[in-house]
Amino acid sequence: MIRVSHLNKSYNYPNMILKDVSFEVKRGEFVYLSGPSGAGKTTLFRLLFADLKPDSGQIMVDGVDLSRARAAIIARLRRRMGVVFQDYKLISSYTVFDNVALALEVSGSPRSLIQKRVWEVLKTVGIERQIDRFPPQLSGGEQQRVAIARALVNSPRLILADEPTGNLDHEIAEEIMRIFNYINSRGTTIVMVTHNRALLQCFKRKVFYLDQGNLQAYVWPD
Ligand SMILES: Nc1ncnc2c1ncn2[C@@H]1O[C@H](COP(=O)(O)OP(=O)(O)O)[C@@H](O)[C@H]1O
Ligand SMILES: [Mg+2]
Repeated sequence: MIRVSHLNKSYNYPNMILKDVSFEVKRGEFVYLSGPSGAGKTTLFRLLFADLKPDSGQIMVDGVDLSRARAAIIARLRRRMGVVFQDYKLISSYTVFDNVALALEVSGSPRSLIQKRVWEVLKTVGIERQIDRFPPQLSGGEQQRVAIARALVNSPRLILADEPTGNLDHEIAEEIMRIFNYINSRGTTIVMVTHNRALLQCFKRKVFYLDQGNLQAYVWPD
């Protein structure tokens, strides 16, 4: 699903944030991207949905070469992936329904289908009772559920999440993790950035660990 080869990235050359980073995520996998603060996790996350351009190296996502593909191809790829942020990035003046529906409206789906699909994903994340509320009326955990529903609504094959539990208490973070586990069990590939050791311990998976620009893969020991 993702193949990154010899990726280099700097903001102020020659100060390299990512140094010759290579890794692969297979279809259906759920992996973590971890490492200390400032290690370049968010930089790598943004590179994976073509929000940033690499200095050199190749990033293949679902068959698309991000450095070579035309804007229209990247736009279509982005509709096949869901992105979740630490700070949710919901639109405060839109209801929960409208926040989630927006992604379907831009793709021109009929109203009846939008209503059915939005209801479905809100139920998946357990927030359907808040459908007419506005984000500021919700708790952090509830807002993140809405953001996950929004990421899910186009039935993506891949979800990228950057510290999605970073602003949440441990108990709520665990609930959010269970939602991601469920989504993954239905076949969606997930790459989750987190430096939360408690969560890594609790839900053990393959970890890509980024430190001083170098990426290493390991499987969490039992
Ligand atoms: N837009 C930017 N311009 C310049 N430097 C940046 C930018 N974004 C991040 N950095 C720097 O790149 C390094 C890695 O940042 P980041 O990818 O956000 O790390 P992490 O998410 O692991 O904490 C940090 O030193 C940060 O200050
Ligand atoms: Mg970050």
